[in-house]
Amino acid sequence: MDQMTAGSRRQMHGIWSGRWTFILAATGSAVGLGNIWKFPYIAGENGGGAFVLVYLLCIAVIGVPVMIAEVLLGRRARKSPIYAMSDLAREAKASRLWGLIGWGGALAGFLILTFYSVIAGWALAYIGKMWQGEFVHAAPETVSNIFNTLLADKVALIQWHSVFMLMTVGVVAAGVTKGLGVAVRILMPLLFALLLVLLWYSSQYGDFARGFHFLFNFDFSKLTWNSVLIALGHAFFTLSLGMGAIMAYGAYMPSRADISKTVITVAFLDTLVALVAGMAIFPIVFAASIEPSAGPGLLFVSLPVAFGNMDGGLMFGCVFFVLVSIAAWSSSISLVEPVVAWMVESGRFNRVGAISLVGVGAWIMGLGTVLSFNDWSNFKPFFGMTFFDFLDFLTANIMLPLGGLLIAVFVGWKMARADAHKEIAETSDLQFDIWLLMVRWISPLAVAAVFVFLLWDKLLSGWWQLLLAAILG
Ligand code: TRP
Repeated sequence: MDQMTAGSRRQMHGIWSGRWTFILAATGSAVGLGNIWKFPYIAGENGGGAFVLVYLLCIAVIGVPVMIAEVLLGRRARKSPIYAMSDLAREAKASRLWGLIGWGGALAGFLILTFYSVIAGWALAYIGKMWQGEFVHAAPETVSNIFNTLLADKVALIQWHSVFMLMTVGVVAAGVTKGLGVAVRILMPLLFALLLVLLWYSSQYGDFARGFHFLFNFDFSKLTWNSVLIALGHAFFTLSLGMGAIMAYGAYMPSRADISKTVITVAFLDTLVALVAGMAIFPIVFAASIEPSAGPGLLFVSLPVAFGNMDGGLMFGCVFFVLVSIAAWSSSISLVEPVVAWMVESGRFNRVGAISLVGVGAWIMGLGTVLSFNDWSNFKPFFGMTFFDFLDFLTANIMLPLGGLLIAVFVGWKMARADAHKEIAETSDLQFDIWLLMVRWISPLAVAAVFVFLLWDKLLSGWWQLLLAAILG
């Protein structure tokens, strides 16, 4: 790599102060609404146990190897994903088309931000609701009424969406290391501690055994190709993979830091938070007779029931939603960091101009998600999905796995083996070969297989049967 660019690169955005800063930043990116809000509700919608097992397998077999690949690419190029991919493609004498990974990733990050900000806005709104005691001794029906009233209130949703978007723009404008590095170091452990308090509560007052059985009893009869795709997509979403966020963060990683150990730590922490959140939520869901398949409102209905009926629940509840908002905040900045870093590197924008432009665009498009929960809730032109459902599906289940597949193929097949090994020099030859086997074969084939089976399941098998029926008369 060109030493000149590597040097000026460092001046432009800064370098993390050490391995642990990277771990915190990457964990801050990974742990977010995906763990606390999305994981429980999609596990609920997809029948629990078997889905959870597939998700864990995807994290271990696809997520970890692809995350190592992303960090490695970012650190080698020391540039934002768009430039990183075109530089590395040139270095590997591969087609310039590999640069599309960077472009697709920037688009995916932008699209995710548009709805992420709306949902994070719900968490912000809940801080006030908790504080005002709206949930004190509330029955599940009362809580679900409060939630539905919030969803129907466009003005409130837009206000909170605006607040969250401004928070994101503010931090990215200030530079990622300064503001959030500090916040993440103190607040992430606090979030985890509070989840443990909730876990304790649900073990005391919830239907713990049933919650546990639901999440960890592997009943494969409930598993469909569609839920496998959702589990796969979520593995990418929750680890912030497939769109360059981790690649962008990898570009700021010190040269000597041990990539594989770091990645395993991040993946482990992320998974732990999701599972603890699940075990804090499901026992309450069952004890309060809420449907596990209640959808996006699951967190916002089940936990207030618990807080409302718990000693000190007012305070705990308040703190909890503050922490969820912060977890979302430290994730949302990583959604735009790749595109903002690229705009700055291109020399046409400064940081503030770049993030302002992206923020305004994402805010406007976010209005579509706001409307998906009220005026447009029955407007489903996108394969029977609302605007929000479609964006979520397109990004998490299509764009991220596809991005991850291409990243794996690039690192596994295009990049010189020695170059890859140099970045993860800490691994033994055997470990390196196992990793290479994963990125060359296992990850791409697994993603491709899920796509093919789903396509077959959804479209082709139907056509095929029609065709057969037509031929056989
Ligand atoms: N991982 C975050 C979560 O679980 C969301 C997120 C942040 C993300 N950055 C990303 C998802 C990049 C995909 C790609 O909430």
